[in-house]
Amino acid sequence: MVQRLQSRNKVRHLKQSSTRRLVVWLVSNSKRYLLTLSQLLNSVLSAQRVEGTPPTVQLPQPASLSALQISELETMRHWDQWVEEALHKLDRLQLLRSLRPIYLHNGPTQEAQKSAEDEFNVFDEMQTWDRSSVEVHIPEPTFEKWLHDIPSSGDEEGTQKFKKLLLFSGNDYLGLSSHPTIGKAAAKAALEHGMGPRGSALICGYTDYHRRLESCLADLKKKEDCLLCPTGFAANMALMVALGNVGSLLSAGKMPLTNEKIAVFSDALNHASIIDGIRLAERQKSVEIFIYRHCDMAHLNALLSSCTMRKKVVVTDTLFSMDGDFAPITELVKLRREHDFLLVIDDAHGTFVCGKNGGGVAEEYNCEGDVDICVGTLSKAAGCHGGFIACRQLFILAFSYKRWKQFIQSRGRSFIFSTATPVPIAAAAHAAVFVARKETWRRREIWNRVKDFRALTGIPINSPIISLIVGSEEKALQASQFDFPLYLFIIQQLHLTLLSSTNRSLLKSGFHVTAIRPPTVPPNSCRLRVTLSATHTRNDVERFTAALSRCVNFREIGIHGSNGYARL
Ligand SMILES: Cc1ncc(COP(=O)(O)O)c(C=O)c1O
Repeated sequence: MVQRLQSRNKVRHLKQSSTRRLVVWLVSNSKRYLLTLSQLLNSVLSAQRVEGTPPTVQLPQPASLSALQISELETMRHWDQWVEEALHKLDRLQLLRSLRPIYLHNGPTQEAQKSAEDEFNVFDEMQTWDRSSVEVHIPEPTFEKWLHDIPSSGDEEGTQKFKKLLLFSGNDYLGLSSHPTIGKAAAKAALEHGMGPRGSALICGYTDYHRRLESCLADLKKKEDCLLCPTGFAANMALMVALGNVGSLLSAGKMPLTNEKIAVFSDALNHASIIDGIRLAERQKSVEIFIYRHCDMAHLNALLSSCTMRKKVVVTDTLFSMDGDFAPITELVKLRREHDFLLVIDDAHGTFVCGKNGGGVAEEYNCEGDVDICVGTLSKAAGCHGGFIACRQLFILAFSYKRWKQFIQSRGRSFIFSTATPVPIAAAAHAAVFVARKETWRRREIWNRVKDFRALTGIPINSPIISLIVGSEEKALQASQFDFPLYLFIIQQLHLTLLSSTNRSLLKSGFHVTAIRPPTVPPNSCRLRVTLSATHTRNDVERFTAALSRCVNFREIGIHGSNGYARL
């Protein structure tokens, strides 16, 4: 096969690498590329599969590659080969699905993108309209109901009076939900093309607007491609179910043997969409689940070391939505090198907030190349709606179509069987990605508010998500005289009462904060979830922490909150 490539004047010589692995120097367009032999063979095999199609060569970055990079190529190859084989099987079963974009713009997409971006206005500092991303108005009768924990339909009438509330509860971390550039992009697309996407992405709902957004997101995440999904929830479900399919497609019999299954290692506090996705994948009987203690790398390492299954995946939130702490991403990267697993991150809360360009937690920790698949959402810091899966293309010589993406779009049911994102939303999200990258002051400001909160309260927070866990030692002691189930019940009731009264008190002072109860969080960890935004001012944080200090003893929190959690 090497000879065949040589005859095509692609390969000049073979060489034994310093890592004692046989590698091939490939010379093309006067540049040299280093490939392992298995990568080369796989590419040739791929080339042979599509009759009559000359291989379109996607080259990795020019050599020289370090020993570490070579080992990364090897790690990726395993998963690439499995996905490649699974795709081949899908092809044979006629289950491969392709996107067929409908062109709504007149003219090439790249020109349309450029002209759209030329129209995007960006600003150097906060404007008056920015405040509406954190200020809301509630009719007084509704407000009264909230204060007494009475459900409100929102139809309360007979009032002209409104109560202004300052939100410390949203996920609009950069305040982009009220940005006029983003609103205008949506309005323009709605006027030109209407609202309804007409169908799912695989039928007729996928347009050049969607493609353009996918390209921007792939670029942001330093990945070769990206698949838009209806929501972040759907993105995780689609990915997990597709991964489970690799196991079932590659099994020799009807039921995958243990060694043919996929071992999924998931952080104990991962988001519900990851958990549900894994559960669904597990039902295909091709996935074994291993839950590791929250952010506990020693536990993960032990589980990985004792697992004999070859196809391993580690999946984690990057910035945990209910706890506000970061996954130890650099340690995960180290473990990935040792254990050959596919690293999947859900960067829903880190995207646009972390990293110089807003590329997220992997950009912040300079390890984008070590992340295999990154899930994200456009419903949080982008201030829009929709989810995405940014993924690699095959890492070596391959055809120009996108393997991972094609696999997920062929097998991810929540992607396949759901209506595509409406065009105005795709247009708005494209504007949001542009604005979020350019308006760097927003990232500066949100991290300034994190510093302000830390300085004013002494609570050792390290992100804009602040988790104030309700429950005092004293109340726990009082309840501990009861037997265990009763103890748990009483603690839970005490926590819920405490949570409601703190929440009410903040509401009275004009602050909207979310009370989070089980099952969103584990039993007996009811909490107030406080979130900061780039459009909060220092004065907002001062007023908020002053109100909070009337319900919370910060000094006590300082003592008990060494793990980043605070106790009320
Ligand atoms: C970590 C994480 N992943 C995924 C999602 C789902 O995103 P979406 O709201 O776009 O469905 C969320 C939303 O809360 C989240 O916090």
